Amino acid sequence: MAATILGIESSCDETAAAVVRGGRDILSSVVASQDEVHRKYGGVVPELASREHLRRIVPTVREALERAELDFGGIAAIGVTQGPGLIGSLLVGYTYGQTLARALGKPLVPVNHLEGHVHAVFLEAQQARGDARGRMPELPAVCLIVSGGHTVLYDVRPADHDVASSAPASIEYPAFRCTYGRIGATRDDAAGEAYDKVAKLLALGYPGGPVMDQLARHGNGGAVQFTAPRTRGNPLDFSFSGIKTAVLRHIRANAGFEREIAARAEALSAGGGRRAAELLPLCSRATLDLVASFQRAVVNDLVQRTLAAAEERAARCVLVSGGVAANSELRATFEQEAAARALPVFFPSRPLSTDNAAMIAAAAYPRLLAGEIARDGVGAQANLPLA
Ligand code: KG4
Ligand code: ZN
Repeated sequence: MAATILGIESSCDETAAAVVRGGRDILSSVVASQDEVHRKYGGVVPELASREHLRRIVPTVREALERAELDFGGIAAIGVTQGPGLIGSLLVGYTYGQTLARALGKPLVPVNHLEGHVHAVFLEAQQARGDARGRMPELPAVCLIVSGGHTVLYDVRPADHDVASSAPASIEYPAFRCTYGRIGATRDDAAGEAYDKVAKLLALGYPGGPVMDQLARHGNGGAVQFTAPRTRGNPLDFSFSGIKTAVLRHIRANAGFEREIAARAEALSAGGGRRAAELLPLCSRATLDLVASFQRAVVNDLVQRTLAAAEERAARCVLVSGGVAANSELRATFEQEAAARALPVFFPSRPLSTDNAAMIAAAAYPRLLAGEIARDGVGAQANLPLA
C-alpha cells in the first residue's frame, strides 16, 4: 500500500507541512521559518512561536497540497508531531491535524519529533539510493540527534528483532519499525543552543549555527584551546554550557572584542550583517579564530562520543540528524573518522536535517501500516519521551 501521508510539524519555531507517498516519495515539503520573528531576541520566544504557528499553519498545509498537486481527497492519513517540543507550538499543529483528520474521516498518526529526525536519515538514504558507495543504513545503528533543542544518542534497533541475536537485521524499506534506547544526552545546553548563545555573545545574529559554520572556515580552529567537557557518570552524556562560559571568559579577558562586538551589534540592528559574507569584514582574526576553535571543540566532542557509542553498541552504522547535522565541519569530521573505522555514516540532506514535515510523514508511514492511529484523548505532550 503506497499510502500518501500529509505530515504536519510545529514543535518549535518552524511551521511545516509535507506530502510523502509510500513513506519514500516526497511530493512536497514546505517549511515556514520564524527566524525573522525571533531574531531580535537571539532565541525562540515561545509565545511568539505559537502565535506565528497559528498564522501560518493553514497556508502552509495548503501550499504543501498544492505543490503535491493533490487535494484532501488524495491523502490517506495525517501524521502530526505529538512532542517533544514547546507545548504552545505543538498544540497548534496537533489540534489542527486532529481536527482535519476528524473532518475528513481519515486516520491521525501521532509522531514523536525525535523519531521524525531518525526517519529523516532513512528518507534521505532512499532518495539518494544509499551513500556514495550505494550502501543503505543497517541496524543496529547509533543515532545522534543534534539540534537547537536536543543533543541525544539513541541505540536504534528493529522492533521485531530478536535482541539476543547478534546477526544484523535486514531492513525492509520503507516500512520497518524501530525501537530506541536512549544511551546518552546533554546534561545542560543542546549543541545548537550553544551555537546560538555564543553567536549572541559575539553579535553574530540568529540562528548562530549556519553563520558560524561559514565564518569558522576563515579562522584557525586550533587557536584557542578549550578543555573537553567531562561528564561524571555516563561517558556518553554531553555538556556544552562550560564551553559557552569559556567563550565568555575569553571575550572578557581579551581587549578589543568589546568594541568589535558593539560595531557588529549596530550593523545587525540596522538590518545588515545577516549573512556570513556581510559579517566577515566585521570580524577580526581573533574573532574568527574563536569561532573556529569553538566549532572544533563542539564537533570533536560530538564525533568522539558518538563513535564511542557506536563501538560500545557494535553498531553497523552511524546516523546523524537535526539542525546541527547541517554543519560542514561536523559532516567532514564524521566522514573522516568513521571511514577510518570502516563504519558507514549517514546524514539527511540539509533541508531534511533541520525541522521539516517530510520526516514526520515518513515516520508516520510504518505506524499507519501497523494500525497505530490516535485514540481519543491522545494529545500533544511537551516532554514526550522516545525511549
Ligand atoms: O533541528 P532544528 O531546525 O530545530 C530544533 O529542533 O532545534 O535546529 C536548529 C538549530 C539551531 O540551533 C541552529 O543554530 C543550528 O540548528 N544549526 C546549525 C547549522 N545549521 C543550523 N548549527 C551548526 N552549523 C550549522 N550549519
Ligand atoms: Zn528538531
